[in-house]
Amino acid sequence: MPSSTTPGSSTLTIPTPGDIPRHVAIIMDGNGRWATKRYLPRTAGHIRGLQAVRRVVEACGKRGVEYLTLFAFSSENWRRPPEEVNFLMRLFVQTLEKQVDKLSEQGVRLRVVGDLSAFEPHLRELIDDAVARTRHNSALHLTIAANYGGRWDILQALRTMLAKHPELSQHPENIEEAMLLPYLAMAFAPEPDLFIRTGGEQRISNFMIWQLAYTELYFCEDFWPDFGARQIEAAFEWYRTRERRFGRTSAQLNG
Ligand code: IPE
Ligand code: IPE
Ligand code: MG
Repeated sequence: MPSSTTPGSSTLTIPTPGDIPRHVAIIMDGNGRWATKRYLPRTAGHIRGLQAVRRVVEACGKRGVEYLTLFAFSSENWRRPPEEVNFLMRLFVQTLEKQVDKLSEQGVRLRVVGDLSAFEPHLRELIDDAVARTRHNSALHLTIAANYGGRWDILQALRTMLAKHPELSQHPENIEEAMLLPYLAMAFAPEPDLFIRTGGEQRISNFMIWQLAYTELYFCEDFWPDFGARQIEAAFEWYRTRERRFGRTSAQLNG
């Protein structure tokens, strides 16, 4: 398999990671419990969670992280009570209306991945506008995963690939990993080096299941609204202690 055509796959070419993760992917969990603990409505936790987003974007930018991907709404979060879903959608709209200029000033390039067809037209317009307005920035690639699911992503990639190359349906034995990569929603980014999940749960909840194949997984007890620069530093410190072998032995790495 030629390495030049497959820069993003840890299973096809062996990456050479540095001390600071190039790509950090975060499940921002625990907003509801943060609020409930304070006898506040869950919605208060989502509002406070936005402040944590700002802190983490700034901290990652300062530390030279190139890609930051945040899980904001999963394909399964529609199962929540309609009032909470509606609140989250309104919050998304308000954030796009108010925060994009600030992000752009910080040199952030914004992308949104997920099945956006489920969102109302106004929200989709705001997303398109924010993506277009920040597309010349390159200090930090910030991606929001919204109505995103790892299984959705793999299926949509497969469907798109087969629609473009119908001959592959006749000869599925010709399908190779590298062929699917350009169709995945995160095709523009390297695979995450570091995954962080706040809120104490130790599960992936359908986030980036393809790309996390060799990602270092970091779980912490802090609820998302309490997360910030200090916690990012702790995660990075832990990351530096990992020996990323990608299938090889320790002796091979150190020999
Ligand atoms: C994460 O916090 C935010 C979203 C899923 C939108 P939660 O809302 O899941 O908070 P907990 O896990 O119930 O505390
Ligand atoms: C994952 O959190 C999704 C987001 C943070 C957006 P959930 O709170 O939905 O995950 P589960 O249900 O506890 O696995
Ligand atoms: Mg949760």
